[in-house]
Amino acid sequence: MKASAVKKYRPFQGVSLPNREWPNKTITQAPIWTSVDLRDGNQSLPVPMNIEEKLEFFDLLVAIGFKQIEVGFPSASDTEFNFLRRLVEEGRIPDDVTVQVLVQAREHLIRRTFAALHGAKSAIVHLYNSTSPLQRKVTFSDASQEKIKQIAVDGAKLIKELSPTLPGTKLIMQYSPESFSDTELEYALEVCEAVMDVYEPTEENKMILNLPATVEWTTPNVHADMIEWFCRNMKDRNKVIISLHTHNDRGTGTAATELALLAGADRVEGTLFGNGERTGNLDIATVALNMNSHGIDTGLDFSNISEIRAVYEEVTKLTVPERHPYAGELVFTAFSGSHQDAIKKGIDRRKIDLANDPETPFEIPYLTIDPMDVGRSYEAIIRINSQSGKGGIAYILERECGLDLPKTMHPTVGSVIYGIADELGRELEADEIRDAFYKHFVNIDQPLSLVDYELDHSAGGRGEVSCTAKISINGEEKEIKGLGNGPINSLTQALQNAGLKSFNLTDYRSHAIRGGSDSDSAAYIQLQCDNTPNLIWGCGIDPSIEMAGLQALVSAWNALNELTKEH
Ligand code: KIV
Ligand code: ZN
Repeated sequence: MKASAVKKYRPFQGVSLPNREWPNKTITQAPIWTSVDLRDGNQSLPVPMNIEEKLEFFDLLVAIGFKQIEVGFPSASDTEFNFLRRLVEEGRIPDDVTVQVLVQAREHLIRRTFAALHGAKSAIVHLYNSTSPLQRKVTFSDASQEKIKQIAVDGAKLIKELSPTLPGTKLIMQYSPESFSDTELEYALEVCEAVMDVYEPTEENKMILNLPATVEWTTPNVHADMIEWFCRNMKDRNKVIISLHTHNDRGTGTAATELALLAGADRVEGTLFGNGERTGNLDIATVALNMNSHGIDTGLDFSNISEIRAVYEEVTKLTVPERHPYAGELVFTAFSGSHQDAIKKGIDRRKIDLANDPETPFEIPYLTIDPMDVGRSYEAIIRINSQSGKGGIAYILERECGLDLPKTMHPTVGSVIYGIADELGRELEADEIRDAFYKHFVNIDQPLSLVDYELDHSAGGRGEVSCTAKISINGEEKEIKGLGNGPINSLTQALQNAGLKSFNLTDYRSHAIRGGSDSDSAAYIQLQCDNTPNLIWGCGIDPSIEMAGLQALVSAWNALNELTKEH
């Protein structure tokens, strides 16, 4: 903003709360969760859900484990009314799930809401009216505090009066001073207590006071102060469930909820992935998974978050951003080399730790939770672009091809692969990485190839092997011979004897390829050319481990030839 524009704003008044206790507390248990996806969420959609979509969403919320679900504003439209009727008449509401209906404190709306509830086993009747000075002045044309309080009291009285018309329904009363977040605290308390006087809650039959941050005007600590102040100053705290309902105007809806739980709230209203008016409501999935990540069971099951996201995106026609906590496409993905390296080390280390102690707590650098616990696989964790490092590429080759590259080979392979990513200017798919590795390192047979070979184990001294190999170099076939302490060593000698470059074999590894349908072996050979400091790698893959080793040598020789040709 320009400085001239900033002048029109004012600091937000904090709460005087000496000895506030919430900063010293920790969240140790889950609150009561209430989904408002089908109401607050739905009313904010560019294309609201139709009844079939709402039914699908309702079933999803039940499957996740919500026991309280706000199903709409039945007095606001026929769709909302008919949706509730279908839920009731089709017996779709499980016995342990309570539906919640929202209604403004206005007589005809309350009566219509009661008509929608017939036959429901249990229901929360959520009454609200707006209480803040700004709403009193602008929306209610300078209405007095007394008048606004009376609207709430009259609404509660009518609800109480109508309750006997639903004899088979267990009713729970809820009241929200809408715009609580900018209402004078003493006044919000006065209105809430006046509503309590009507409903006369008991310890056995508690009512819910929902204290909404209808608009998030300030920092989360002030919200927590407001909740602690309210809990400390209200009467009959033991007869009331204090509920939170945060929005996300400043981007801190999650923090505001978490701090307000420390401040004493018992219940949380929110939506999946934070859908809702403007910047949205609280994202319940994030808060619940945050709790899971600290070892707290929440009763909500997000173990298949991608499926949940798919249903959500289908019915709301919104998309979950790629960086959205836990559910976003990229949140378990590392592109940066150092992160990839640390994650790969973490995964390897965890395998060892788990073998020693199956109860080892989860710890992998850069991952707050095990992606598997939300149904995400490790596949998405490491992806390769030009920022990526050698560890990530090795991880992909291990995962995709069962190849366990020697650590000292990682830089050579890494520079080839991210050179390709850099040139293309985009992320590489796993199969492109595999193809590039094969093209540049595996069974390279130009200009040198091994046509045939014979080993004679009786030719030399103890343990020595003689190799007679038919090679093709630049299209010309040749027979070469060498003696060494094994097949690779004797072919190395044969190449040297034939005057085909002077080099040292500085490393050799081999292993059976993991997870393949056939039983190929992979071998890796490192060569150093006499007149360059460069270390060159080649790989051989073949059903025979011996042939894999010889192919690795030929591959490395061809790479060395290429390099020395350039010098
Ligand atoms: O944000 C809000 O204040 C609401 C109320 C109706 C609870 O959605
Ligand atoms: Zn809201």
